[in-house]
Amino acid sequence: MNINTVSTTPFSDQKPGTSGLRKSVAVFQKPHYLENFVQSIFDSLDGCEGQTIVLGGDGRYYNREAIQVIMKMAAANGIGRILVGKSGIMSTPAASAIIRQYKAYGGIILSASHNPGGPDGDFGIKYNITSGGPAPEKVTEAIYDRSKVIDSYKILEGDDINLDKLTVTRLGEMSVEVIDPVEPYARLMESLFDFDKIRQLIKNDFKMCIDSMHAVTGTYAKDIFEKRLGADSGTVLNGIPLEDFGGGHPDPNLVYAHDLVDIMFAKDAPDFGAASDGDGDRNMILGNNFFVTPSDSLAVLTANATLVPGYKNGLSGVARSMPTSEAVDRVADKLNISCYETPTGWKFFGNLLDADKATLCGEESFGTGSNHVREKDGLWAVLFWLNILAVKGESVEAIVQDHWKTYGRNFYSRHDYEEVATEPATELMERLRSMVGTMAGKKFGNYEVKYADDFSYNDPVDNSVSKKQGIRIGFTDGSRIVFRLSGTGTKGATLRLYVESYEPDASKHNIDTQEALKPLIDLAQEIAQIKEYTKRDEPTVIT
Ligand code: G6P
Ligand code: ZN
Repeated sequence: MNINTVSTTPFSDQKPGTSGLRKSVAVFQKPHYLENFVQSIFDSLDGCEGQTIVLGGDGRYYNREAIQVIMKMAAANGIGRILVGKSGIMSTPAASAIIRQYKAYGGIILSASHNPGGPDGDFGIKYNITSGGPAPEKVTEAIYDRSKVIDSYKILEGDDINLDKLTVTRLGEMSVEVIDPVEPYARLMESLFDFDKIRQLIKNDFKMCIDSMHAVTGTYAKDIFEKRLGADSGTVLNGIPLEDFGGGHPDPNLVYAHDLVDIMFAKDAPDFGAASDGDGDRNMILGNNFFVTPSDSLAVLTANATLVPGYKNGLSGVARSMPTSEAVDRVADKLNISCYETPTGWKFFGNLLDADKATLCGEESFGTGSNHVREKDGLWAVLFWLNILAVKGESVEAIVQDHWKTYGRNFYSRHDYEEVATEPATELMERLRSMVGTMAGKKFGNYEVKYADDFSYNDPVDNSVSKKQGIRIGFTDGSRIVFRLSGTGTKGATLRLYVESYEPDASKHNIDTQEALKPLIDLAQEIAQIKEYTKRDEPTVIT
């Protein structure tokens, strides 16, 4: 088979964001766009010749075409073996698990996570390293640098591989194995959780509903919940992965997972509900008429970890992203373990997990995970909750209320201003940046600023420093407001405002969240002049 070297010119916009390169499908379909980026990946990997690479995606539009191109380019670049998911499917956490289990050199994951799919939607590509985690900044920087100067790429001439059959074949010198993307993942879950106990819980008339939002976890959830755990067929809602996610926005929050929300907030709602996103790494947990914030979920999992076989010996530490609420800090304090605060982006947890400084990690953006893989893991979080519910025999709401009684409640909410003009959004941030230095000690009504800064992270493992990670304003009563611009949007800018207050008094734990946070939300508006800069009266999404 012939290897063609194709001349190309660089694109200037191939800088990977929070989670890989994410653009509209139309951009990826530009001639050479995908190929340039893939060649930049191969050019940036030292010694990948002859090695094994894992490949798969969330099944969105363009997944199959991209996989065929990437396989031919991998063969032309001397990769020894490709492990590709059947039908091109592989959830992000499963890809991480498979990279680790097969001791692969790395993996290429095709996903734009929770962004809408289809011909008018988004596509994405990211590289994961040997540990199974997203490439660290030095790798993504190298890929970006290469993409700016690339002048040719290599691709094998050959027929497409049939992705729908479990086979081992060859593309030129390279071996291609089409593998079952579920089995290795499901086995890992069985090794961490008490499936017998969860099976028993489900048998005892426990009702649950899992919304896969027509995305990748449909394939996984049906196998795990309906087949292995014996839940009724139909427990998995929207379980058939579709290239356009059925026209939906596969993001598990109260706004986009409306099918599930309608069911869980009805009069005769099930005991437990959960949803996951496009590529299966996010999760939302609901009880009967009850929403668990991702920050609280991390705190509850941490407090109850020893009830679960995989974590029965306790945790080495925990980590949360900076904008995630401090609820888990209080648990860590009580357990006398370290709690790390990292910038937004799962990749920042990688070193802490590798060095066994943290066992569980979580983000406010509906991400939770542990050292079992190096990505956040939606179904893992669902199984963790089910295991706790099976052991405790209490409702989701009772467990969370009880948690608040013990630790106090961190009221928490995120307000997103999506697709606002980039320039004024950047100006808003610059203005805050110029203000924070002199804010400590200032009083705003009842609030006194304890500290204010632009968050900077010193990685305790490799000592790398990540600056400008978001504006934090902390007050003396334990409340906080945080501002940052999203690193995952594909249109304009998204301003995120994160608001948090601490309430130790149990008699006040059932106040409506937005009401409890109103004074802080108003204060954030006053300090940042959000309306003036974004020209928006209201956020687009409140979670
Ligand atoms: C992805 C990343 C997360 C991050 C989230 C939100 O899901 O994997 O680590 O928290 O995006 O990022 P953003 O920059 O949009 O707030
Ligand atoms: Zn995702």
